[in-house]
Amino acid sequence: MRPRISVIGLGYVGLCTAVCFASKGFHVYGMDVDVERINSLSQGRSRTYEPQLQHHLNKALKTHLFQPTVDSELAVEKSDVTFVSVGTPSLEDGSIDLTYVKQSSAAIGASLKNKPKWHLVVVRSTVVPTTCDSVVKPVIEETSGKPCGPEWGLCMNPEFLREGSAIYDTLCPDRIIIGEYDERSGSALDNLYRSFFHRKIPTKRMSMVNAELVKYANNAFLAMKVSFANMTANLCETLPTADVGVVTSAIGLDKRIGQGFLRAGLGYGGSCFPKDIKALTAFGREKNIDLPLVHATVEINEKQPFRSIDLAEKLIGSLSGKRISVLGLAFKPDTDDMREAVSIPIIKDLLQRHANVVVYDPKAIAQARRIFEGSITYAESAVECIRGSDVCILVTEWESFKDLKPKEFAKLMKHPAIVDGRRLLDPSQFSRVKYASVGLGSNHKTGTP
Ligand code: UDX
Ligand code: UDX
Repeated sequence: MRPRISVIGLGYVGLCTAVCFASKGFHVYGMDVDVERINSLSQGRSRTYEPQLQHHLNKALKTHLFQPTVDSELAVEKSDVTFVSVGTPSLEDGSIDLTYVKQSSAAIGASLKNKPKWHLVVVRSTVVPTTCDSVVKPVIEETSGKPCGPEWGLCMNPEFLREGSAIYDTLCPDRIIIGEYDERSGSALDNLYRSFFHRKIPTKRMSMVNAELVKYANNAFLAMKVSFANMTANLCETLPTADVGVVTSAIGLDKRIGQGFLRAGLGYGGSCFPKDIKALTAFGREKNIDLPLVHATVEINEKQPFRSIDLAEKLIGSLSGKRISVLGLAFKPDTDDMREAVSIPIIKDLLQRHANVVVYDPKAIAQARRIFEGSITYAESAVECIRGSDVCILVTEWESFKDLKPKEFAKLMKHPAIVDGRRLLDPSQFSRVKYASVGLGSNHKTGTP
């Protein structure tokens, strides 16, 4: 019989995992401490916006294979495998906050106490090295009164889901990393994934600490690539005919480098990169080991959003009293998530300069209202946003912004001036309006070498 699954923590990682297992015929108990979240999920409403998520959620509820609940005991008791995907936010000093990991481990332990059958616990949350061995395992052992190994198993199984394509990434991962406490635990998870995927996904089995390290090293390396592209972009801007896009796509053809994560822009944001890199830095501090590449990655990223302000000033001078339109607020397209979005420091800086800020985003306006309340104006469309503005800063590369043609900017804006912070628009089309782009030399109007 197929193992029954429970998932604790239904954020975007947990929910996507849960509905994907259900859509493949597994019985899934989705547990979350947030009663409201569970109530809306039971009615088929997800607070998380994620392409294809609604479709999979509807299907999972219709087949009764996905059962949202606030009862962790029920979820653990009725299932054979429990995935833990609760959040792991940053503490004030940047180090990881393991409160939710400890809470959920304790809840799992309490439920395992009277469960006669062997049960597998799989940590999906991103946790700093040694957490599984030195926090999760002892907490569950203490609360269940049962030793890890003979009575229950433990794996660390990092996820690499990107927001905006989390369903796709769940169904088609590049590889599976299984950090295992012992052979039995690792094999149980390996077998579960074999029956889930029906095809062999490259799988690496290792110790739990190595799996914990893989997640941090992976994210730090990707963030470093983004910062490298942004550093190169800043250099390009000092050379009249340089174009960072030409440079990065050429170096990306070297297979040793690869094309991925070399898009220059206004920096990375989101719920993972900033938080994980802070946690890694704090962990390095605790271990007394310097991580200079990580520090440089962060330093470049913290300055990068403000390139858009410098470029706007270059185009129109002082921003004080000017109407500035900001296109895009989410930390990247296809999500409504504004966690650590670069739009936040940009808007705060504009407000400090006494600019009038009007914003538009296809999905993230509700989030923005919570952050900025009445201090900025919220437009209902991109066209309404740019109308009457002195300069437009494009912050998130939503595809729909490509529909805005130079003619429209020229007609609607007070003084057409555009800062393309994500290199979305075609510079050759903007030769008649004031236009600046990250990573593009000031005389570069054609987009060709
Ligand atoms: C996930 C992770 O697991 C995190 O470690 C990783 O780095 C990124 O992806 P995310 O899905 O974004 O995080 O988490 P979040 O949106 O914070 O959701 C976590 C959910 O867990 C929330 O719904 C929260 O209510 C729930 N939760 C939290 C529990 O059910 N139990 C708890 O004890 C704490
Ligand atoms: C990331 C990781 O990719 C994923 O494996 C992990 O599990 C969670 O963190 P996510 O934060 O959803 O996923 O988005 P991602 O697509 O990786 O982008 C992160 C940030 O980097 C975004 O702000 C994006 O705009 C920026 N980015 C990405 C660039 O600026 N340039 C690039 O070339 C790629």
